[in-house]
Amino acid sequence: MTKVQISGTGLYTPKEILTNDELVESYNNFVDEFNLENKDKIDKGEIDELQKSNTEFIEKASGVKSRYVQNKSGILDTKFMRPRLRERSESELSNLAEMGVAAAKQAIKNANISTDKIDAVIVACSNLERPYPAIAIEIQNALNINGFAFDMNVACSSATFGIQTIFDMIKSGSIRSALMVNPEICSGHLNFKDRDCHFIFGDVATAVIIEEFDEKSNGPNTYEILGTKLYTEFSNNIRNNYGFLNSSSPEGVDQPDKLFHQNGRQVFKEVVPKVASLIKDHLETNNIKVIDIKAMYLHQANENMNRLISKYILGEEATRDFAPIVLDEYANTSSAGSIIAFHKHNQSLKENDLAIICSFGAGYSIGNVIVRKIS
Ligand code: COA
Repeated sequence: MTKVQISGTGLYTPKEILTNDELVESYNNFVDEFNLENKDKIDKGEIDELQKSNTEFIEKASGVKSRYVQNKSGILDTKFMRPRLRERSESELSNLAEMGVAAAKQAIKNANISTDKIDAVIVACSNLERPYPAIAIEIQNALNINGFAFDMNVACSSATFGIQTIFDMIKSGSIRSALMVNPEICSGHLNFKDRDCHFIFGDVATAVIIEEFDEKSNGPNTYEILGTKLYTEFSNNIRNNYGFLNSSSPEGVDQPDKLFHQNGRQVFKEVVPKVASLIKDHLETNNIKVIDIKAMYLHQANENMNRLISKYILGEEATRDFAPIVLDEYANTSSAGSIIAFHKHNQSLKENDLAIICSFGAGYSIGNVIVRKIS
C-alpha cells in the first residue's frame, strides 16, 4: 500500500512586530477618543462607556506577547484600526499569493523537490482574499507547477484538513505529490475595536510538501504520515459573517459580526475535552500508546488551552519541548499555528519518533495527523 510522507515545510514571517504594549496603547487611545466623542450618549445611558485593555490581562488570559503583521501603522491608527494594504492590480500577485509563494519556496527547497514533480497545489486557510480565481491557482502559476490547484477553508483546522485531503489523493493514486500553503492575514478579519479579542491574531504563511513515500529520495527531515482524523460539529461560538451577499443586506454592512467574533470562554470549555478525546481515540485506533508520542504540535490559540489539552492526554502538564508554544511570539495564526510549531521544533525528534500535529477552531473543527520521523 502507498505510504505518504511530509518531505519539507516552509515559513514566511512578516517583518513588522506588534507588541501587546503597542496594541494596548493604541486601543486605549481609541477608548478615550470614543468615550469623549460619545459623552452625551454615555451620560444618558444610551451606550456603554468603553473599558480599557491591559497587557497583563492579555498575557495571562492567552499567553500572547507579540505578533507579526503585514501592516502595523494602519492597525495602530485609531481612525483606521485595520492593516492598510495597497490595492493591487490584477497583473500583480495578490497579498495571500505573495506570502504563500515565499513560504512555498522554502518548503520546496527543504523537501529537495523540483516543481515539475509537484502534481497539485492546495491553499488551505481561514480567509481567502477573493472568491476566484483560486489563490492556489495563482501560486501554481507563479511557481510553474503543472496539474491542478484549489482553495479550501476549514478555518483554524484548514491545514490538517488539507493534509488529509492530499494524503487521500496520494493513497488513491490520483497524484504523487502536492504543495499545501496556509497564508493567513488574520489581522484583516480581527476587530481591533473589540476589547475581548483585539489581541488574539497575527499574520504568517506556512507551506508543506507531501508526497509518496520514497526511501531513496528522502531528505534529512522527512515524516511518514501514519494516519489522519477529522471531526466537525456546528457551533455559533466562533463566527465571521463576512461574505458576498453582505451588500444585498445593506443594513448589516460593516457591522461587527462581519469580522471575527467569539464566545471565548465557551470555546475554551467545549473544545478542550473534544480535542483531547479525539487525539486519544485516534492514537488508540492506530495502536499507539500516549507514552510513545514524543511531541505534540498543537494549534496555537491559547496557551492555557494547550496546557489543559496536554494534561487531559498525558495526565500531567506537558513541557514546552513536548508541546511547543509559538503563540507567545506569533499569536493565533489560525491554520498555520500547528504547522509553525512543527516547522520550528521538529528538529528535536529522532528517527522513528512519533508525534502529532493537531488543529482546532471554528466550525467547530478538529484535525489530527500522526507522523513518524523517517530520517
Ligand atoms: N483587557 C482587560 N480586561 C479584559 C480584556 C482586555 N483586553 N478583555 C476582557 N477583559 C475582562 C472581561 O471584561 C472580564 O471581566 P469581568 O470578569 O469583570 O467580566 C474578564 O477580563 C475575563 O474575561 P473573559 O472573556 O472571560 O476572559 P477569558 O479568561 O475567557 O479569556 C480568551 C479570553 C478569549 C483569551 C479565552 O477565552 C480564549 O482564548 N478562549 C479560546 C478561544 C479560542 O481558542 N478561539 C479560537 C479562535 S480561532
